Amino acid sequence: MTYEEAYQKLERYGQLHVLERYGELSEAEQKALLSQIEAVDFSVLSAAKGGEAKEEGRGKITPLTAMELDEIEARRDTFTQTGLEAIRSGKVGAVLLAGGMGTRLGSDDPKGMYDIGLTKEVYIFERLIQNTLEVVDKSGGWIPFFIMTSEKNHEKTVRFFKEHDYFGYREESVVFFRQEMAPASGYDGRVYMEEKGRIATSPNGNGGWFVSMQRSGAAAKARELGVEWLNVFAVDNVLQRIADPCFVGAVIETGRACGAKVVRKAAPDEKVGVMCLEDGRPSIVEYYDLTPELMEAKDQKGDPAYNFGVILNYLFRMKDLERIADRILPTHVVEKKIPYLDEKGVYVRPESPNGYKYEQLVLDMIRELDTCLPYEVVREKEFAPIKNRTGVDSVESARALLQQNGIAL
Ligand code: UTP
Repeated sequence: MTYEEAYQKLERYGQLHVLERYGELSEAEQKALLSQIEAVDFSVLSAAKGGEAKEEGRGKITPLTAMELDEIEARRDTFTQTGLEAIRSGKVGAVLLAGGMGTRLGSDDPKGMYDIGLTKEVYIFERLIQNTLEVVDKSGGWIPFFIMTSEKNHEKTVRFFKEHDYFGYREESVVFFRQEMAPASGYDGRVYMEEKGRIATSPNGNGGWFVSMQRSGAAAKARELGVEWLNVFAVDNVLQRIADPCFVGAVIETGRACGAKVVRKAAPDEKVGVMCLEDGRPSIVEYYDLTPELMEAKDQKGDPAYNFGVILNYLFRMKDLERIADRILPTHVVEKKIPYLDEKGVYVRPESPNGYKYEQLVLDMIRELDTCLPYEVVREKEFAPIKNRTGVDSVESARALLQQNGIAL
């Protein structure tokens, strides 16, 4: 992109300050800035209007029945056989979402590199690989393992896996791919600069994972390998089952386009997104959109009608992902701390939030699909997220849960 083209693009989005120090840059830096301007999608910034996060309109919310533990238990053998067969024949891939910044944990390294061990080293990545290896052993088939990183953590992540010999996984079954980045801005929607010649950017949320898989060639690789289903999961739940044969089998046997692992809510007002139907399509309603009426609504058994929260572990059918890949997902505006260069050229690491990041979320993909199976799992056995260092959803709480499940730390 030429300087003139960059100028025009920035002018269109009211971001001309990006070129303020262009004259002070070396030729190489100028070139890099012009290509960053070319690559950045500034249209997401319209989601921040005068400092106000844009409200998303919601459709009509009605209950979506989950498959509960008793039914899963009754059909466990059939589901497990179907799932194992699909895995053995290479139809199931795993996608680890590890592109996030993990700012709440406060480590500069990728979150998966965090050591949660007490008497020995136990890395988050290691736990996830161990969990997957259990299914590899049981099924006798290698599960292609895709890892999404971002520009900010790619090199470190790849190096870490190499250094640890992929924690016993087969190297050729591991495929890394990078997600896209989005600009970060102040409350007024003006992008921050992180260097004189560089716009501040952050990973664009976990919702773009399949598009990034397609752009990077990882989706084509999955296709080549004969993958038909992708199990997508977050990096921070160290207890989760990956490519769980019973879950895979349940989704296949019930003919759904996707499945979502869910846990029974601890309390009606627990802060988790719950599965529902929205205008008749599967969807997830965030806790802040759950009105008192919805919170108190009951199903035929007299249980709360919106009782199952998602844990960011989904199974998607590739064919459907390909079909919906060009749909535009909503942009979520998230308040965050964004390091930036101030007017004097000093690099500032703010102590409190100073602007917005713009993210697409995987949960919004569910609404694009025709059917989804909410599949209940036992919280204490499958849900130990690490978001913070201490307190709720922390290293401490996850350690306790791991030990409760017999995992030596
Ligand atoms: P979180 O919502 O916990 O975000 O991500 P985060 O960036 O990791 O952590 P904080 O909010 O800054 O503390 C849930 C999952 O989605 C992945 C994360 O790596 C995690 O597995 N994710 C998130 C991405 O892969 N890319 C993103 O852009 C954001």
